[in-house]
Amino acid sequence: MTLQRLDIQNIRNITHESIQPSPFINIIFGDNASGKSSLLESIFILGRAHSFRTSKLKNVISHEKDFLIVSGSVVDADAQSLSLGVQVNSKAIDIRINQQQSYKRSDLAYALPIQLFYSKSYDLFESSSSFRREFLDWGVFNADKSFLLAWRKFKKILLQRNDLLKKKQIKYIKYWDKELIHYALIINQFRCQYLEIFIPFFIDTCQFFLSKSNISFHLNSGWDVSKALSECLDLNLENDLRFGFTRFGPHRCDFSILVNGYVSKDVLSRGQLKLLIICLKLAQIRMLKSTYSVSSTVLMDDFNTDLDLDNRNKLLSYLSSLSCQVFIVGNCLSEFGPLLDITSYGVFHVKRGHVFQTK
Ligand SMILES: Nc1ncnc2c1ncn2[C@@H]1O[C@H](COP(=O)(O)OP(=O)(O)OP(=O)(O)O)[C@@H](O)[C@H]1O
Ligand SMILES: [Mg+2]
Repeated sequence: MTLQRLDIQNIRNITHESIQPSPFINIIFGDNASGKSSLLESIFILGRAHSFRTSKLKNVISHEKDFLIVSGSVVDADAQSLSLGVQVNSKAIDIRINQQQSYKRSDLAYALPIQLFYSKSYDLFESSSSFRREFLDWGVFNADKSFLLAWRKFKKILLQRNDLLKKKQIKYIKYWDKELIHYALIINQFRCQYLEIFIPFFIDTCQFFLSKSNISFHLNSGWDVSKALSECLDLNLENDLRFGFTRFGPHRCDFSILVNGYVSKDVLSRGQLKLLIICLKLAQIRMLKSTYSVSSTVLMDDFNTDLDLDNRNKLLSYLSSLSCQVFIVGNCLSEFGPLLDITSYGVFHVKRGHVFQTK
């Protein structure tokens, strides 16, 4: 999907701006506090009806205003166009697709699949496993729409099981376990099938950015898969009752990356670790595009931090080769180098909440 037009109203220091981005690279630059991240945040809200900077969307509304609106039109590979809109006030979030209400966040996410790179993305291996699951499942979600259905069913049953654990109603737990296991295995299978295709893309991307061939990806499914999940749940029932929640299953899935057999975060420099996480995301974007024809919209804040000039150039030419729409933020245009490898790009200068297209 490509964002052809973006209209922003009352998002942080942006009062009312409209842009027509390039379908490929869009460079956004400006001084500190000019509104660059707010511009990225607007696009993120359009694709997720969430912010990546605050858990409360109403905090994004410009001070002294009582609503925000972000809207835009997107086109897919077959030139079919959709109009998307998100309106937020202190009480409600209204999501519209082609002017119709009652859409869910997941509908927006399919219409505008966003891959975000920002400061917290680079803490992937320092953060809790939920961040790594979110990364993995974003790919699986875009690769196969049935994943979301299975995940929703699983989550519902899991909540029920946890409730029964808290109430110590053991006899009903056995009944729910059958269904829980059914969906748990489906979810695990989706993830494994996805990784079978993803891992070669990831290794290849690592070779380009890190010149390391001895990198390996390890999935932890959330339980010991050499044994049946039913056995694992039975064995751990007593402890689950004590903790009041289910401690094994696909909701506890995680992954790690080893470099020369060592855990990546223990052996890589800060810049290398950032590149490794960039490789994970770029591989996901490339794989989704080439295997599933899903074209991601890439948002990259603070492009400059921790990367030397050579890596910045490599990253820009890689992003350009993806043929996806990219919005990339820096403080000044010179950070992006001579831009010789990039054929098609737009440049936006952000000044005190106003966006000026300069190319
Ligand atoms: N709800 C709000 N209403 C109005 N202004 C806000 C609101 N929230 C934040 N701001 C202001 O919006 C301005 C733009 O912030 P933003 O984070 O977009 O800047 P930036 O260009 O990304 O800066 P930096 O280069 O430092 O990352 C800041 O001055 C910030 O204080
Ligand atoms: Mg910023």
